[in-house]
Amino acid sequence: MSTLVTGIGELTTNDEARGGTTGRMRDAAVVLEGDAIAWVGAASDAPAADERVDVGGRAVLPGWVDSHTHLVFAGDRTAEFEARMAGEPYAAGGIATTVAATRAASDDALAANLDRLADELLRGGTTAFETKTGYGLTVDDELRSARIAGTRADAVTYLGAHLVPEGADADAYVDLVVGDMLEAVVPHVDAIDVFCERGAFDEAQSRRVLEAGRARGLALRVHGNQLGPGPGVRLAVELGAASVDHVAFLDDDEVRMLADTWQGGTGTVATVLPACDLSTRMPLAPARRLVDAGAVVAIATNCNPGTSYTTSMAFCVATAVLQMGLTVEEAVRAATLGGAVALGLDGAKPAGGGPDASGAGRARLPVGRIRPGARADLQVLDAPSITHLAYRPGVPLTSAVWRAGARVV
Ligand code: NIG
Repeated sequence: MSTLVTGIGELTTNDEARGGTTGRMRDAAVVLEGDAIAWVGAASDAPAADERVDVGGRAVLPGWVDSHTHLVFAGDRTAEFEARMAGEPYAAGGIATTVAATRAASDDALAANLDRLADELLRGGTTAFETKTGYGLTVDDELRSARIAGTRADAVTYLGAHLVPEGADADAYVDLVVGDMLEAVVPHVDAIDVFCERGAFDEAQSRRVLEAGRARGLALRVHGNQLGPGPGVRLAVELGAASVDHVAFLDDDEVRMLADTWQGGTGTVATVLPACDLSTRMPLAPARRLVDAGAVVAIATNCNPGTSYTTSMAFCVATAVLQMGLTVEEAVRAATLGGAVALGLDGAKPAGGGPDASGAGRARLPVGRIRPGARADLQVLDAPSITHLAYRPGVPLTSAVWRAGARVV
C-alpha cells in the first residue's frame, strides 16, 4: 500500500543533502510505501500511488521524537505541584511518593496509564519516544516496569539509580542496581541512566552504575546538572554517554566539552527539558549557548508526574523559541532529529530496538528525517509553516499524523 502526501506548502525534511537547518522544501510531496518513506520531491514530479492525500498547503514535518520520558508510574502529585507553585522548592524526594504508588499498582493499571500517555503523545504529533523505569526500585518492580515500557516505547532506559529507596543504604543499593537488578532488566532495555545529583547519586556511585551498564552493552544516559552545578555532564562526556539530560546549570567549559564530543561525528547529546525547567521554577537550560558552541541538542518533554507532567512537544518547542532563544528551525530539528540522535535511532548506527526486541513499537527504521528509507513518521500542522509553532503558542496545531506508514490522527 502506497500513499502520496501532496499539496505540502512547506516540508521540513531534516535532510542535510537539502541544506539549511531543516532541509526545507516548498510545494513538495512525499510517498509512503508500507512503513517507510519511498520518495520525496517536488509535487509536480510526484509518482502515482495507491492513495492520494492533499494537505492543502499545510506544513509537514517529521513526527516529534521525545527522547526523555518517565511514563511507567501510578499516582498523582498535584499537591506537590501546588506547594511548589506556592514557593516550595522541588526536592527529588517526591520521587518516593510515585515509587510507593507504582509498587502498589497492578501491571494492568501501569500498562493502562502508559497507554493513556502514549496515545496523548501520538495525538500531539510524537511518533517515537523513549521511556524509563525508575519508579520501582526493587528487582521485581524494575523488571515489570521495563517489560511494560517495551510494549509501547521505541526505546527503554533502565533507571534503577533514580533515588535511594527509603531506609536503604546508598552503596548497598548501588550494589543491587549494578548486580541482580541490572541482570534482570538487561534483556528488556536499550540504555542505562543515573540521576547524578546532590540528594540522589554522587559521582562515584554514578560512575559505577554507568560502567556496569556499559559492560552489559547498554547505551549510557545521565540526568545531570538539573538542580545545580555538579559532575553529571563531565562524567557523561568522559564515559561517552549517548545523552546528558536537563543540563540547566552549565559553565562555559561544560558547554565546550559537550560541543567537542562531536568532533569525530558521534558524541553526547545535550537534552534540554523546557517544561521541566518551568514546572520546577529552575533556570532554563542554556540551549542557545549549546547550539552556538556546536553541541547537538535534543528537546524532550520529560513527561513524569513530578517535575513535568506534559506530553506536549509543541509546548516545549514554543518555549525553546520564546524563552531559550532558539530559532524555530533549530528547535524543530532538536525535537525531531536531535531526539533521534540521542536515542541512536537516526540511522547512523544499525537499527535500535532493544536486545529483546519484544516491544511492538520499537523503531526498526531510522526516525527524525523525511527522506527515502526513513520510517514513515510525519505530522501535518494546521498552519502554513513551522513558525506557527511559536507564533501561535498553546494552540493545538496537529492536524494529521502518520506513524510507520499508518494514519493515526
Ligand atoms: O527527570 N530528575 C529526576 N527524575 C525526574 C523527576 C522525577 C520525579 O520527580 O518524579 C526528572 O525530572
